[in-house]
Amino acid sequence: MACLACLLALAFVAAEAQQMQSNISQGSSLTTTNSTWLSRSGLYAFGFYRQGDGYAVGIFLAGIPQKTVVWTANRDDPPVSNNATLLFTGDGLALPTAEGQNYLVKSSGSASYASMLNSGNFVLYNSGREIVWQSFDHPTDTLLPGQRLLSGNELFSAKSEADHSTGIFRLKMQNDGNLVQYPVDTPDTSVYAFYSSLTVGQGENVTLNFGADGHLYLLNRNGTNIRNITDGGLPTDEGKLYLMRIDVGGIFRLYSHDLKKNAIWSVEWESSKDKCVPKGLCGLNSYCVLIDLEPDCKCLPRFKSVNQGNQTFGCERNFVADACINRNENFTYTMEELESTWEDDSYMSLRLSDKDDCIQGCLEDCDCEAVFFDGTNCRKQRLPLRFGRRDKGTSERAFIKVGVPTKPDTDPRIVQPGSKKKAHKWIWIGTAIGAALLVMVLCISSYLLRRKLFSGETNPMSENEMLEWMESDRSTGDVKGLQNDGKMGNNLTIFSYASVVAATTNFSEENKLGQGGFGPVYKGKLVTGREIAVKRLSRCSGQGTSEFKNELILISELQHTNLVHLFGFCIHGEERMLIYAYMPNKSLDYFLFDSTRAMLLDWTKRFNIIEGIAQGLLYLHKYSRMRVIHRDLKASNILLDEYMKPKISDFGLARIFTHNELEANTNRIVGTYGYMSPEYAMEGIFSIKSDVYSFGVLVLEIISGMGVMERRQGARANGSNTKGFMY
Ligand SMILES: *[C@@H]1O[C@H](CO)[C@@H](O)[C@H](O)[C@H]1NC(C)=O
Ligand SMILES: *[C@@H]1O[C@H](CO)[C@@H](O)[C@H](O)[C@H]1NC(C)=O
Ligand SMILES: *[C@@H]1O[C@H](CO)[C@@H](O)[C@H](O)[C@H]1NC(C)=O
Ligand SMILES: *[C@@H]1O[C@H](CO)[C@@H](O)[C@H](O)[C@H]1NC(C)=O
Ligand SMILES: *[C@@H]1O[C@H](CO)[C@@H](O)[C@H](O)[C@H]1NC(C)=O
Ligand SMILES: *[C@@H]1O[C@H](CO)[C@@H](O)[C@H](O)[C@H]1NC(C)=O
Ligand SMILES: *[C@@H]1O[C@H](CO)[C@@H](O)[C@H](O)[C@H]1NC(C)=O
Ligand SMILES: *[C@@H]1O[C@H](CO)[C@@H](O)[C@H](O)[C@H]1NC(C)=O
Repeated sequence: MACLACLLALAFVAAEAQQMQSNISQGSSLTTTNSTWLSRSGLYAFGFYRQGDGYAVGIFLAGIPQKTVVWTANRDDPPVSNNATLLFTGDGLALPTAEGQNYLVKSSGSASYASMLNSGNFVLYNSGREIVWQSFDHPTDTLLPGQRLLSGNELFSAKSEADHSTGIFRLKMQNDGNLVQYPVDTPDTSVYAFYSSLTVGQGENVTLNFGADGHLYLLNRNGTNIRNITDGGLPTDEGKLYLMRIDVGGIFRLYSHDLKKNAIWSVEWESSKDKCVPKGLCGLNSYCVLIDLEPDCKCLPRFKSVNQGNQTFGCERNFVADACINRNENFTYTMEELESTWEDDSYMSLRLSDKDDCIQGCLEDCDCEAVFFDGTNCRKQRLPLRFGRRDKGTSERAFIKVGVPTKPDTDPRIVQPGSKKKAHKWIWIGTAIGAALLVMVLCISSYLLRRKLFSGETNPMSENEMLEWMESDRSTGDVKGLQNDGKMGNNLTIFSYASVVAATTNFSEENKLGQGGFGPVYKGKLVTGREIAVKRLSRCSGQGTSEFKNELILISELQHTNLVHLFGFCIHGEERMLIYAYMPNKSLDYFLFDSTRAMLLDWTKRFNIIEGIAQGLLYLHKYSRMRVIHRDLKASNILLDEYMKPKISDFGLARIFTHNELEANTNRIVGTYGYMSPEYAMEGIFSIKSDVYSFGVLVLEIISGMGVMERRQGARANGSNTKGFMY
């Protein structure tokens, strides 16, 4: 009997406790001193917790020493002051302010009472005991057992362990069924993803579920388990706590805690063991390295942190960026190798098998600030570089262009105090190596000159031989007084200046075919009777020997019936000329935009021209040894041979002239407005897609016979352009 009384008393106490603690009626309030509503178990608390120099409102584990925060209301609001009051009204929970009620929680119907459940869910009910709001529907960075992440919803990491406002990573349950991690403020595309459950295409309404035994799994809309993220099966006895959280560092983890042992949280599972995996941990131009398994951000060589205290700001270069364009003599450039991987955002990909060609190509291209070489492809990239991390396992090699002052004390920002001695040492070493190289080049070139040029042998020269030969030639002006035309590898002929002058009757006006952006083009006739077109590169075009070499190598590599055929070249002092096959039918625009000549282009011809251009472009993009992006495909660059067969000309030029881009804003833009894809015209982003865009414009022109705006207003209206025969 006594026992029964005992039990009744206990039941009464329990009921009272429940009444007090887990049934909060409308009109109740909290202050920062009487600060929380506890769950019945006393484990979870809803209310004020300290944040910064004030308070935030949320749910935390009151029953453990760490007071772990699992949910925060309006996490990005500033902390509230000491005198704040939280009021439970029919519309939700509000902080009264001078301006009125600031609602932290808005219920979907009239709320009459609230409860802090033992599960960690804070729930508002209407008078009909229906849920009108629950914290489980609004997760921040944490999921608790029983809580689900619904399709379309995301978890956002916290800024730091102490600051629960939104940080820089997110985990999204996508509508396509995939659970993916991204940095914040990025589109949901795979470029940015750094974790995926690999369940894309599993349909709408897939949910992430969290079982009491630590089981994280995905259910499709029929309630079928489609993926186990963790196996579950962890002990569920009293005192065991689990939570899943996307951590400040971007990795999401399953934690366990044993109340009885008064333990700390321990990791049961994590989405990645490598803390450098989350993209965006390090800012632009910096890359993540692991030091004792902890991530740290390092700047690219010769870059410095934008903000010492915050690595997400990234790094900036500490040498003058436009030194390349302005040919600042105080800097030279080298390529430094970094064992690292980066986001692929290349503007050009060349098929190259030699690492040194790849490096050299970047040094000679002012647009290029880094190259990635994987043995078959050389991808050129501009700054900024993103999502970098040290990766010793990668077969890809990254080379970063760095500016080095030629004089040790030119730039005090670069040369550190005390390193002058070292710099002198390097100068000595550099001089020695330079001298050795010079001797080598001289030897090789004189050997080659004797062997290949004067003996009349026509063995093909390799690219390197050609380069060296041309290097040696540069200092001595005319091709060592070469009077007869010589033969080179790749079927390239070296024309003597005298023969070019003779062929074009000393570059006479009558023989001028047109004036291109890079200099005039002349028609010529060799003594053999062959007709040629001579592109005389302007001295002021800024094209140096290296660019000229580039173009030659590039063009001589390209052999296709729909590309214009390069016969050879001529170097005379500072002057450089390219010699092409002469195209009697000039260029496509010559026919297309002239009402009488256009009649000669019947549909069959037009179709054949379109097909020819497509074939040539396909070859440039796909089947040539190097991938070439033309960048300036337009009617005046399509030449027509005697059978009206189209030949793409000017390929490779855009790439070679890239460092003129800035200057070109006034005289010549790389590419032609009207043919340029919007993203290239506006942001300078180009790829083979830009050529495809230009091709589309070209096809429309060929079909309609109408030119793009630019053409009609510019070249055509004033008639000053003789239809860009060969430029
Ligand atoms: C909570 O309190 C309200 C009124 O204060 C009452 O209507 C409701 O039935 C109570 N709910 C529970 C679960 O005790
Ligand atoms: C704290 O709030 C509860 C319920 O809201 C109330 O009963 C209690 O008197 C308050 N205590 C203090 C010290 O204000
Ligand atoms: C709280 O105190 C601040 C000053 O510390 C004051 O500006 C504010 O009006 C006070 N708020 C309320 C609700 O009393
Ligand atoms: C997904 O859930 C929403 C809301 O419950 C529902 O309206 C929609 O029809 C569901 N979609 C599918 C494909 O089941
Ligand atoms: C869900 O069930 C419906 C029928 O109930 C079926 O047609 C559909 O294929 C199922 N979807 C998945 C993803 O299993
Ligand atoms: C997930 O794990 C459960 C056991 O915990 C198992 O029954 C189920 O088949 C697994 N599902 C998948 C998709 O692997
Ligand atoms: C670092 O800077 C970013 C960008 O301004 C900012 O969002 C973030 O809160 C800062 N992090 C810290 C720890 O201050
Ligand atoms: C190179 O450095 C010298 C001083 O050492 C300076 O006078 C000159 O302007 C610099 N040149 C450029 C292009 O910055």
